[in-house]
Amino acid sequence: MADDGRPVGVVGFGAMGSGIATVCAAAGHTVVAVDTTWAALDAGLRRQRDFLAGSVERGKITEAERDATLGRITRGTELAALADARLVIEAVVERADVKHELVGRLGTVLAHDAVLATNTSALSVTGLARHAPDPERVAGLHFFNPPQLMPLVEVVRALQTGDSTVQTLVEFAESLGKRPVVVPDRPGFLVNRLLMPYLNDVVQAYDDGLASAADLDTAIRLGLGHPMGPLELLDLIGVDVHLHATTAAYDATRDPRFAPPPLLTRMVEADRLGAKSGRGFREGAGE
Ligand code: NAI
Repeated sequence: MADDGRPVGVVGFGAMGSGIATVCAAAGHTVVAVDTTWAALDAGLRRQRDFLAGSVERGKITEAERDATLGRITRGTELAALADARLVIEAVVERADVKHELVGRLGTVLAHDAVLATNTSALSVTGLARHAPDPERVAGLHFFNPPQLMPLVEVVRALQTGDSTVQTLVEFAESLGKRPVVVPDRPGFLVNRLLMPYLNDVVQAYDDGLASAADLDTAIRLGLGHPMGPLELLDLIGVDVHLHATTAAYDATRDPRFAPPPLLTRMVEADRLGAKSGRGFREGAGE
């Protein structure tokens, strides 16, 4: 995507939004970031600084590059700051009502030729696009966590998405040094559609007593060459996040591969959510 001097907007400066803003700015794009409160914007800036400090320490970037990246990002609480943006990526909380309302409000602010991309993992991009004045210019741009490190981006084509919007987002993802794949708007898109049944199978195998959590992860790492075992991965993603996503996919499709194994619900009820609660499958739970 040609950089015509107009900024890229990022709405929602949380875990993903602040990371996406870092990626965009590091690639040379000017970024305008919007969240509802300065507390959220400051927390996001702290995350960015921590990440970039680590990159400097590891010799990946210079201090000057760190400063240039941060210098390309302006922050604010008003959507009006996005009036000039050529592309806006929304990464607000994963709630349909919040996103639909936001898309409607962005419709009154954005330039007529702006593209609106959503980073949603589990909501219908097609359902979101209908709230925009021009649904042809809406698509998914699904980054993986952490966006600074994960090279894949799914460009999600909603039923209404125009070809030029897809093309714009493919080129934009490439400008970030990411590898885009274009996928249709179906529950889980591509990667999570394949991942969710796998993780559900793993949890059921663990609950059936096939192996301890540690052995199960070791078997997959050493037997399949995966960099991380599936239960370690679940703890990292968040047991609650996976339960929410696979339940949504099951509700949308009634495909039994997405049906959450009962242990997942029990884990969430016991607050064993993984890294975020300090206890999950691999942090003291049942090893
Ligand atoms: P988060 O909870 O860390 O951040 C959400 C941010 O949105 C918060 O800073 C919140 O203040 C802000 N926000 C809420 N309502 C807003 C509004 N109306 N206008 C502006 N800002 C608003 O959430 P996270 O994890 O960053 O997720 C954001 C999106 O990214 C979700 O759609 C999620 O499904 C998706 N996603 C998350 C991944 C993850 O691993 N966390 C991976 C890929 C996608």
